[in-house]
Amino acid sequence: MTQDELKDAVAAAAIEEVRPMLGNDIVIGIGTGSTANCFIDRLAALRGDFRGAVASSEASAKRLKDHGIDVFELNEVGTMPVYIDGADEVNAHLHMIKGGGAALTREKIVAACCKTFICIADASKRVERLGNFPLPVEVIPMARSYVARELVKLGADPVYRQGVITDNGNQILDCYEFMIDDPVAMEARINAIAGVVTNGLFAARPADVLLLGSEDGVSRLL
Ligand code: 5RP
Repeated sequence: MTQDELKDAVAAAAIEEVRPMLGNDIVIGIGTGSTANCFIDRLAALRGDFRGAVASSEASAKRLKDHGIDVFELNEVGTMPVYIDGADEVNAHLHMIKGGGAALTREKIVAACCKTFICIADASKRVERLGNFPLPVEVIPMARSYVARELVKLGADPVYRQGVITDNGNQILDCYEFMIDDPVAMEARINAIAGVVTNGLFAARPADVLLLGSEDGVSRLL
């Protein structure tokens, strides 16, 4: 199977996880990226079975609307039952690195408002130790150089993602050469730097379920 086929297989499995949770008053949280896009495309067939979605990016909001799915502002809805999103890396504790698509901050916010986080990923994303994928950090533009210097002190090699402005009007530093032994502690440590909006470690609030697609099928990991 190709990587795209694996992404679609986990999206199909996620649809079966979500289907029993749907109802006329139900709004669900939806992530960003190519795997989340597979999920959105499959969700279109169920659009009459639920109220709508909150999206973690303008790109996902557009894709949902193009399928005729109602998109709500997060402030319009309360706690949602489920959030579905991909990841750039995920470990055995379901800690993740996210933000390859620069949507990390809205992803973290929407996920925080959902009872269950279902991570959907192909097997290439499963790692023993987080950090081969450069950790994204969203920064207030005026703080970029200061935050970069602080990240160097933590052992990272931060690189400004040129030409990228997040949906929140901010910039991204990607931390290379930065293997992470304690994701919960590092998430808090980076977030404490003045000027950091958030970083792409999703460890304080990991996924609850991982649907991992490989040649052997989709495994469900808790
Ligand atoms: C976007 C993300 C994505 O979930 C992550 O980059 C995975 O993307 P893809 O499904 O395209 O591999 O965090 O900010």
